[in-house]
Amino acid sequence: MVQDIDTLTSSHSVVSADAVVELLRRRRATRAIDSEPLPEAVIQDLIEAIRLTPSCANRQPWRFIFAESEVERERISQTFTGGNLAWAPHAALIVCGFSRAEDDCRDQDGREYHQFDLGMATMNLMLAATNHGLVARPMAGFKPELIRELYGLDPEDQPFVMVSIGWPSDSEEHVPEKYKGSESKPRVRKSADEIVRRI
Ligand SMILES: Cc1cc2nc3c(=O)[nH]c(=O)nc-3n(C[C@H](O)[C@H](O)[C@H](O)COP(=O)(O)O)c2cc1C
Repeated sequence: MVQDIDTLTSSHSVVSADAVVELLRRRRATRAIDSEPLPEAVIQDLIEAIRLTPSCANRQPWRFIFAESEVERERISQTFTGGNLAWAPHAALIVCGFSRAEDDCRDQDGREYHQFDLGMATMNLMLAATNHGLVARPMAGFKPELIRELYGLDPEDQPFVMVSIGWPSDSEEHVPEKYKGSESKPRVRKSADEIVRRI
């Protein structure tokens, strides 16, 4: 494992459109998130980022619930589990991504692409959020069954990811003790030759 030299930035600046790697370097999934509402133009931009995502045969299987009002954020927050219950409800926007297998490519050899495509849409959402100076932390720690129940989803719908989004907060008040300060540490990633075979 190698440690990158990037540091956490809480800047609200917007990077230029071609600086994709710089944007990726700047993205950190922080848990100290503010609940100040997001401007409508920002929310529209996040939705556009989702819409522009590529998908297998352009099937666009992703579906998202955007919990924006205080009431809805409280409601969706019941589905969080473990440590997420402490910090994740305090974000301005709580998103749930879901999809169903039949809405995307299913190859005869068993490959199914709906969650891959949902993942790409979620990454685009997170990058658009980062570009606005927001933080966006993805989560697997939630109860998909409860999402289905609360929002009347069909049994085939597979809630797969939650994302808490908001302005970075200076206060770690809601962050569990064991995570405090963790996201300002250098990020740990595998080395290039562990993950890419160049031939
Ligand atoms: C699919 C997925 C599930 C995750 N689940 C959680 C979670 O339930 N709770 C949490 O605090 N972070 C969760 N994370 C955040 C990761 O722990 C975080 O992205 C990782 O440690 C790398 O840190 P970075 O995003 O700041 O680079 C999840 C990330 C992904 C991609």
